[in-house]
Amino acid sequence: MADKVVLAYSGGLDTSVAIKWLADKYHMGVIAFTADIGGVGDLPAIQQKALKIGAVKALTVDAKKIFVDSFVFLALRANAIYEGQYPLATALGRPLIAKMLVDTARKEGAVAVSHGSTGKGNDQVRFDVSVAALAPELKIIAPAREWGMTREETIAYAEKHGIPIPIKAASPYSIDENLWGRSIECGVLEDPWVEPPEEVFAWTKSPAVSPDKPDYVEIGFEEGMPASLNGKRLDGVALIQRLNELAGKHGVGRIDHVESRLVGIKSREIYESPAATVLLKAHQAMEAMTLSHQQLRFNEKVSSEYADIIYNGLWFTALRRDLAAYVDRAQKHVTGTIRVKLFRGNCIVVGRKSPVSLYDFSLATYDKGDVFDQSASVGFIRIFGLPAKVQAKVQGGEGEEKKPKKKS
Ligand code: ARG
Repeated sequence: MADKVVLAYSGGLDTSVAIKWLADKYHMGVIAFTADIGGVGDLPAIQQKALKIGAVKALTVDAKKIFVDSFVFLALRANAIYEGQYPLATALGRPLIAKMLVDTARKEGAVAVSHGSTGKGNDQVRFDVSVAALAPELKIIAPAREWGMTREETIAYAEKHGIPIPIKAASPYSIDENLWGRSIECGVLEDPWVEPPEEVFAWTKSPAVSPDKPDYVEIGFEEGMPASLNGKRLDGVALIQRLNELAGKHGVGRIDHVESRLVGIKSREIYESPAATVLLKAHQAMEAMTLSHQQLRFNEKVSSEYADIIYNGLWFTALRRDLAAYVDRAQKHVTGTIRVKLFRGNCIVVGRKSPVSLYDFSLATYDKGDVFDQSASVGFIRIFGLPAKVQAKVQGGEGEEKKPKKKS
């Protein structure tokens, strides 16, 4: 019997061609595996297509809940944003897909797993490193990295073998989609000076034509986890879907970024991440209300480290788990409600409340009810400013630096 390979199958052109190519080149039985993490569309149709092209088996799974609970919300609680811009939608999806490929390979007795990533991007790294960490015994085959076909040649290959070409294949853009966001690259976007044409956007209205009245949303957090929307408890998947619609309607979540890929290339990326944009902003506002300055400062370091780990495909590593343990502990009091205004492409935090808020009205107020002892500030400042005073006296102040005295 032929060896088996489990292929991450999206139903798109490349992975459809890969089914045939793997069977021809490697003489393997291809098991097509499709996970819905919020972007693939019609699962039964994809399954049928895989079998028609020649897969020996086609499996599908709805993985939206596990994606949100075990990947997206962990990243949200860590405020993970790559280079201050990218909420990491694609990057978070890859390790989960890799894990499911590995699980399927073990169940089906396959010797290899396969994915449709090219040799130029981050996704190959995320798949390969995840598989290596989870199942070092499995072989990894990346057809698009091996076959050296251009897009035209891939289309010709499909035509020659009677593989149906998806309408999307005619689009000049490369698009990846899941609940946390949409990633768009290629075509005119490869010129970083060119403004993204309206046609690249699918989830967000242009702020130019978005409603002229704002919507307000209230996000309830429990230990850093979004738990409710406008006072209604919602599971993570529904909450994100609803927010994608609401914020997308107001043009919130468009991101245009020149990004540093792990493989050394700068690339121009467009993202649509309405829910992610709102939730990350709201989560940060919730932390500002419930954590000390020192915690916030330290969390910033954890955030950028965590984001790099996710971006670079290192999800299944010890450091990622260590940081997750820290984040889990650090979110214990990040509980309360954030009120956000969505309007003309903007997402603005306009209100916050928390049962464990560190904001104390009687300390903050300039009006009646002030309990802060202003006279205590005098002594505090005397000590706090002491080093600055001493240094200025000895070495000179602003613009009048003293020369060090020569020792005689
Ligand atoms: N640049 C993003 C990342 O590395 C998105 C990649 C999206 N892939 C795609 N086929 N458009 O995570």
